[in-house]
Amino acid sequence: MIPTPTPRAILLTRVLIVPEHRLPSCHAIIVSTDDAWRDTLCQRLVELEARGGEEHPCCELSISALATPDLLLEQARADGALQCVVLDAASLTDVTAIVTRLHRVRSEVDVFIAVSPGQAPADDNAELIDRDDTRAEILLRRLRRAIAKRASTPFADTLREYIDGARDAWHTPGHSSGDGLRESPWVADFYRMMGEHVFNADLSVSVQELDSLLEPSHVIHAAQDLAADAFGAKHTFFVTNGTSMANKVIVQHVLGNSGKMLVDQACHKSVHHAAIMSGADPVYLPASVNETFGLYGPVSKKTIYDAIAAHPDARLLVLTSCSYDGFYYDLEPIIRRAHAAGIKVLVDEAWYAHGYFHPDLRPCALECGADYVTQSTHKMLSAFSQASMIHVADPQFDESRFREHLNMHTSTSPHYGLIASLDVARKQMSMEGFTRLERCITHARELRRGISQTERFRVLELEDMLPDSLKDDGVRLDPTKLTIDVSRAGCSARALQKALYEKHSIQVEKITHNTLSVLVTLGTTQSKVLRLLNALRSLAREIPEKPLRLQPPSVLPAIGDIVARPREAYFGPSEDLPLSDEAHGINSGLIGRTSADQVVPYPPGIPVLVPGQRISEDVLDYLLDLYHGDSGIELHGLMRHEGRAMLRVTGNTDDEHSVTASTD
Ligand SMILES: Cc1ncc(COP(=O)(O)O)c(C=O)c1O
Repeated sequence: MIPTPTPRAILLTRVLIVPEHRLPSCHAIIVSTDDAWRDTLCQRLVELEARGGEEHPCCELSISALATPDLLLEQARADGALQCVVLDAASLTDVTAIVTRLHRVRSEVDVFIAVSPGQAPADDNAELIDRDDTRAEILLRRLRRAIAKRASTPFADTLREYIDGARDAWHTPGHSSGDGLRESPWVADFYRMMGEHVFNADLSVSVQELDSLLEPSHVIHAAQDLAADAFGAKHTFFVTNGTSMANKVIVQHVLGNSGKMLVDQACHKSVHHAAIMSGADPVYLPASVNETFGLYGPVSKKTIYDAIAAHPDARLLVLTSCSYDGFYYDLEPIIRRAHAAGIKVLVDEAWYAHGYFHPDLRPCALECGADYVTQSTHKMLSAFSQASMIHVADPQFDESRFREHLNMHTSTSPHYGLIASLDVARKQMSMEGFTRLERCITHARELRRGISQTERFRVLELEDMLPDSLKDDGVRLDPTKLTIDVSRAGCSARALQKALYEKHSIQVEKITHNTLSVLVTLGTTQSKVLRLLNALRSLAREIPEKPLRLQPPSVLPAIGDIVARPREAYFGPSEDLPLSDEAHGINSGLIGRTSADQVVPYPPGIPVLVPGQRISEDVLDYLLDLYHGDSGIELHGLMRHEGRAMLRVTGNTDDEHSVTASTD
């Protein structure tokens, strides 16, 4: 017999079954000093909006009026729901300047300029409306249409509709919407763990409604165009193998199969791989270093300017902004200098896809004139891992050549879930990026304050982190990346990382010998902030009073002489030689030889050897120390042969230390 529900149970059931569905709130503002025009129009729009009538509204729209541009700018800083602005060109002076000022604060806000006949300010960033014949019905539709356009996700919507259609799959992938796993006694648990839509959304390129990432013509094309508008690019391309792929595509596109590029030594390894693949001649610019905390920072302006002057034949400059630790360059003068010398600029913004959506984080690379920008949308925004974007502003951009380079690195079976997540991440930033980032900055502020109050831990400020050589370079720090100094804590950063994980279920982003780094992202919640603060307070109480003397790791030796092109060194004849001799000292037979591989201590993830580099005694000492030490630093690019660490070097000699000889 079914038990009679109690009144409380009935109430709960009702609440669960009929959830309140609230549309997001949006706000439009009319700005004019002409009180009568402004208030009449505003009143009329409010009445029309109250009447409703739109069949599928995407938001609840409130409308208000302001008398001056300054009030508008104040409102733009305070009101995340602000989505549209109507400016009265007849009563305001220099509306184009007002649009520029507004977009410097909130780039995404749609602007309408009400003009009288014969008075049409040229502004590509605004839509014109007729001031003297403004039918409120039409204006309201236009406001709503502008919001709906940014709130649309052409690709993700089509994917959802396709899934809702429940078509039978006679195509790849072989799991066929999960049917291949669902009933299996062996693997159905994986299906249940992932959830049905992970499989439903994993579709074949044979589904034509979903467009082609390799030759986009409809929904992916539309989604990329919306992304270009949102991120301030001329063209945007979705990438499904991360910024690692994006960087290779750009280097190949700009340099072809040869050419000189100026690169930050600390740039991501994908750029070093790109140098091998494209046959580039890299000129390495030494990264700055803060020895106290083991942090590697930007290249100094002077070093960049000197390199630009010394290499008039360079064709590409590659910089990382912001870095993993949050340093971002004063890019505008650097890019101007590079352009004056005819050098294109690629800025790796893998860690900075959020920057354009908050005034405190701008200007970003595109605003500073970069030709190419690569962003890991998945790192700080809501896209799935591997989902990245390439933004282009190069005035000489040849799209059809670029398409070939892009497709050369793109799978012919890209994951539609990744593409949909890029579409949705763009929508989120366009509609609520500012509000979300305000929250991130508030969380970061609370963490800074709370962590410093533990009196054992302290969040570093820019002045603490920046090497002295860069103090006047206009470098800034992304406030969402927190580097916590643990040198007064009485135990190593590694021990703290372990304690946070094992005792408090908290996983941090990375460590150096005396710092822990955490990222505040769109997914950071107040409860996560509180748990981290509680965990650090509790560790501060538990750990010994007496601070330990932590030995900083030795500074990375600068990349020395480059004697061969990375591609030739990497693909040419080579042999593997042991790093150490029988007495565990360095193998002197390696000194003066040329590295065939990239060797990267991780962290910090910056190469000490690149293909084509002459091997010095300093580098060997450094590598051997790390190899025999217990710093926990991994050495990527070293090979192991019968328990011995080996380096691959170019050439093929009869040297007695040679163990194997391989010719690629
Ligand atoms: C500066 C930088 N560029 C590029 C990448 C590669 O990005 P992705 O993981 O999206 O391939 C990383 C990864 O950590 C990075 O730190």
